[in-house]
Amino acid sequence: MAIDRYGLGRVIGEPGVLPQRAQRVDPSMPLRPGEVAIDVESLNIDAASFKQLKEAAGGDSAKIAAAVQDIVRTRGKMQNPVTGSGGMLIGRVRECSPEHPDAARLKPGTRLATLVSLTLTPLVIDEVVAVHPAIDRLDVKGRAILFASGIYAELPSDLPDTLALAALDVCGAPALVARYVRPGMKVLVLGAGKSGALCLAQARKALAGQGSLLALDISPKALEALKGIGLCDHTIAADATQAVAVLDRVREATGGALADLVVNCASVAQTEMASILSVRDGGTVIFFSMATSFTSAALGAEGVGKDVTMLVGNGYAPGHAALTLELLRAEPKLRRLFEERYV
Ligand SMILES: NC(=O)c1ccc[n+]([C@@H]2O[C@H](COP(=O)([O-])OP(=O)(O)OC[C@H]3O[C@@H](n4cnc5c(N)ncnc54)[C@H](OP(=O)(O)O)[C@@H]3O)[C@@H](O)[C@H]2O)c1
Repeated sequence: MAIDRYGLGRVIGEPGVLPQRAQRVDPSMPLRPGEVAIDVESLNIDAASFKQLKEAAGGDSAKIAAAVQDIVRTRGKMQNPVTGSGGMLIGRVRECSPEHPDAARLKPGTRLATLVSLTLTPLVIDEVVAVHPAIDRLDVKGRAILFASGIYAELPSDLPDTLALAALDVCGAPALVARYVRPGMKVLVLGAGKSGALCLAQARKALAGQGSLLALDISPKALEALKGIGLCDHTIAADATQAVAVLDRVREATGGALADLVVNCASVAQTEMASILSVRDGGTVIFFSMATSFTSAALGAEGVGKDVTMLVGNGYAPGHAALTLELLRAEPKLRRLFEERYV
């Protein structure tokens, strides 16, 4: 039997629709060729989804648990019908089909986090064991299915789960930085949060002592924390939605040269033009922020006559999880910052 790489056969009643778009998927056993069955320990619900569930439940954990169980029973996956979003899960391999590309590695008991969304992951919840509203997490007993195309990360035994998950959530960003930063470049990172800090750490490594690193954020405190641990050479405290003001500050900080590469990791909308104006002609912008508008970026670059290569920050790059966890291991100060902020 051929492998159903994308899980199309698990979609109920909508032929040709991918599991993420489907209303319902079939989470039943037995396992099909190419799939992995996972005994689920925890669901990390997407922040927007958890917020909605919490508000709808008036903050009552039992009601949140009931709402999640209801969604999963109805849809066969944890896709919040209001926000459309999912999250990720942690669990242990229960069974791996011999046809899965990593069958030799995925032995029963292997602990992993799925890096594909819960919005496409067939799931059954037998019991909600606990709700942790502060970290958007539910501990559950249940079973999930990962398709052959589903990316995952084996959870390291030397890092706490919460630390590893915080970093894995944005691991596509530093992987892209590794691909595009070369020694001698001037690199500007917008947004000094999780992905921004990892991008700066990876850029520092890739610059190999040549070039410069600028970090821009609206919060002077976040910038100080990054500067304090040597993750950037210059900081710019500015609102990234104010493109012209940002341009002035970047021009000043780079002696008029502007940046060779801008990585947009800001968590707000309307920061496209700050990125485009801050990069030199012929330079590159990586838009990792989910708040990026294709229209604003494309029309905006055209509007100011800027020849700039613009990349959509794909959340996946081969080896992205390992690269990111290695950054945390190799940079104790970065790890401490993550532990203080996100664990
Ligand atoms: N492309 C992908 O595959 C992918 C995957 C995961 C996440 N993302 C996206 O990447 C973005 C960053 O994620 P993250 O986890 O790094 O977020 P984060 O930790 O919240 O960091 C975002 C930073 O942007 C700052 N910021 C907010 N408003 C700003 C403004 N007007 N000007 C300048 N800086 C501002 C925030 O400051 P405050 O904390 O002071 O507000 C924060 O330091 C989000 O849009 C997220 O959805 C993309």
